[in-house]
Amino acid sequence: MELRNSDFIKLANIIKAKYGLNLTEKKYLVESRLTNYVLDCGFDDFGEYFETVYADHTGIEMTNIISRLTTNYTYFMRESEHFRHFTEVFLPDAEKRISDGDLRIWSAGCSYGNEPYNFAMCLYEYFGSRIDSWDSRILATDISFNALRMAKQGIFTEQALQELPDDWERKYFNRHVNGTYQVKDEIRSNVVFKYHNLMEPISFKKKFDLIVCRNVMIYFDEPTKEDLVDRFYDATEPGGYLYIGHAEAAPKNMRYEFIQPAILRKPMKEDGSDE
Ligand SMILES: C[S@@+](CC[C@H](N)C(=O)[O-])C[C@H]1O[C@@H](n2cnc3c(N)ncnc32)[C@H](O)[C@@H]1O
Repeated sequence: MELRNSDFIKLANIIKAKYGLNLTEKKYLVESRLTNYVLDCGFDDFGEYFETVYADHTGIEMTNIISRLTTNYTYFMRESEHFRHFTEVFLPDAEKRISDGDLRIWSAGCSYGNEPYNFAMCLYEYFGSRIDSWDSRILATDISFNALRMAKQGIFTEQALQELPDDWERKYFNRHVNGTYQVKDEIRSNVVFKYHNLMEPISFKKKFDLIVCRNVMIYFDEPTKEDLVDRFYDATEPGGYLYIGHAEAAPKNMRYEFIQPAILRKPMKEDGSDE
């Protein structure tokens, strides 16, 4: 089934405005990922299908499209330097700074959950039996309902666990009879999965000590990325961190302080000092 240029341009513009994703060079990807779905929905023409999508004011059909067009590639221990920093720098520092036990971490663009689960496992490793004196639930958000559904289940193949330290399979997963591994309940209940579109205002009640947004902004153009990093800054506690992907350049005029590649920090004081 052929996707006409005019239909493609209209869809690409809507998706860019609503979700920040730049599909301009990806006509073939859109065509290949949507063809079977559109046929299954009973349409034999993209144009006709899109008209029903645009007429659907509930927005549900658009979320079905977006679940098919997002790239959800992720894996455990991805960019492992972040996990080292988290355990050796972030957590010891947070423990000193935070007196009420309320640690706030957000995995923004969490895909299938490998990322937030991986940080949750690091929390358990670090705190050990002290974990109960912390409210360390991780907020994990995405725009793909399909990815969120799978993330909530927390079921992974044996191969997916390979990069994790050897004893983590035993500590943090239950093996099912069919050979898959499910993240144990205590870790799963420490991660709260929610739909959130990063193009929309960040209106969570409290600020975050750590925002992890890795390999999401690569799909955004420069102004969209600058605006998002600016809003992340406002949603970060003084002294808190933002982890971004190593392939993503931080915006030039950002207010975060550069700590090391892919690790940014909000100074303790607005004048940029740490005193
Ligand atoms: C390549 S995955 C990265 C997953 C994980 N952060 C990692 O580094 O392994 C990018 C994720 O960002 C999500 N995403 C893309 N645009 C988004 C938006 N506007 N709001 C929220 N999530 C978005 C996608 O659905 C996808 O799951």
